[in-house]
Amino acid sequence: MAAPASSPSSAIGAPPPAAADAIVVEGLRKRYGGADGPEAVKGIDFAVRQGEIFGLLGPNGAGKTTTIGVITTRVKPTGGRVLVDGLDVTRDEVAVKLRLAVVPQRSNLDRSLSALENLTFHAAYFGFGRRERRERALELMERVGLKGREDDRVDKYSGGMAQRLMIARALMHRPQILILDEPTTGLDPQSRLFLWDTMRELREQGTTLILTTHDMAEADQLCDRIAIVDHGEVIALDTPRGLRRLLPSEQGLEVVVAPREGAGRTDATTALDGAPGAERTVVVGTVDDRTTLRVYGTADPADLVARLAARGLELIELRRLEGSLEDVFVHLTGRELR
Ligand SMILES: Nc1ncnc2c1ncn2[C@@H]1O[C@H](COP(=O)(O)OP(=O)(O)O)[C@@H](O)[C@H]1O
Ligand SMILES: [Mg+2]
Repeated sequence: MAAPASSPSSAIGAPPPAAADAIVVEGLRKRYGGADGPEAVKGIDFAVRQGEIFGLLGPNGAGKTTTIGVITTRVKPTGGRVLVDGLDVTRDEVAVKLRLAVVPQRSNLDRSLSALENLTFHAAYFGFGRRERRERALELMERVGLKGREDDRVDKYSGGMAQRLMIARALMHRPQILILDEPTTGLDPQSRLFLWDTMRELREQGTTLILTTHDMAEADQLCDRIAIVDHGEVIALDTPRGLRRLLPSEQGLEVVVAPREGAGRTDATTALDGAPGAERTVVVGTVDDRTTLRVYGTADPADLVARLAARGLELIELRRLEGSLEDVFVHLTGRELR
C-alpha cells in the first residue's frame, strides 16, 4: 500500500502515486529471452488518470502489447515497476486481475463453447454464482448487440461479433480498468463506431480505459491523452491537441478572404505579407471570389484582420493551423518502414 503523503518514509523514498492515477508505469523495461535478448521496452514512464481514455500510439513493434502484457500481469517485467490502483503487478497479481480486464489483439475465445458459456465460464473463474453470472451474461450480450445469438458457437461468429463478445466478457466482473489492444484493426465501420460509442459510455460511467492503436485518427477522436511510443520508448505524451501543436512548421493562421461589395480585387498576399510575426504567406487556392491563405509564423490575428480591412478585403474565416496527428507522428518517428 502507498504511504500517506505526510508520512516520514515518503520524504525518503519515491513519492506515493497520486490518488487519481489508475495506473502508474515507472521506468518499465522488458527484455525477451534472457540477457542477450532484444529489449522490447526500454524504460517507459506514464500514468493513467482515473476515468480517462489513455492511448498508447505507435508503429508495429513499438512495445505496446508488451507494455499491456506487464500491466495485465501476463508479461514479467525485467525492470521498473507498474502499479494498478496502487498495487504492484508483480506482487499483487490476483488483486490486480480483479481490477482490470483486457480485450486482446487476437481472439482468445473458447471456440468449443457457446457465446454465452464463454461469458459464464469467465465469471465463474471470478467467483460469481450460477444465477448471477447467467443474468449478467444475458444483459451484457444484449448491450453489445448479440441478443438472440447466445447459444451460437463462437466459431460461427464474424470478426466484429467475436470482438463484441470479448468486450462483454471483459465487462463480466465489473473491472475499474478496461484495456483494449488494437481493438478496431480490421473492423468494419459500423463495428468501429459501435466500439467508440461503447468506450465513451464506459468512460462516462467512470471506467478507466487504455487503448492501443496505430490509427492516428482514432486516437485523436477518442483519447483524452496519448503516449506516442517508438522503439520501446515514450517519445511524446500529451492531449491530442497538445501533440498536434508539436509540429513547428504548422504554426500559423489560415484565412479565407473575399473583396468587399463594390471593391476591386486586391492581392491578399500583399495585404498580409508585412504583418509582424508573419514568416511566409502562401495562397492555398481561390474558389469563386474567395481566397484561402496561410500565414506561417506568429502573426497576431487582430492585426491580420485590420490589414485585410484596410485593403478592402472581407474576412470570411480565420482559424489556427494545426497539423494532423499523423503529421506529428511522422515528424517524431520518421518515415522508415517497420
Ligand atoms: N514473446 C516475445 N518474444 C520475443 N520477442 C517478442 C515477444 N513479444 C514481442 N516481442 C518483440 O518485442 C518488440 C515489441 O513487440 P510488441 O510489444 O508486440 O509491439 P507492438 O504491440 O507495439 O506492435 C517487437 O520487436 C517484438 O518482435
Ligand atoms: Mg501489439
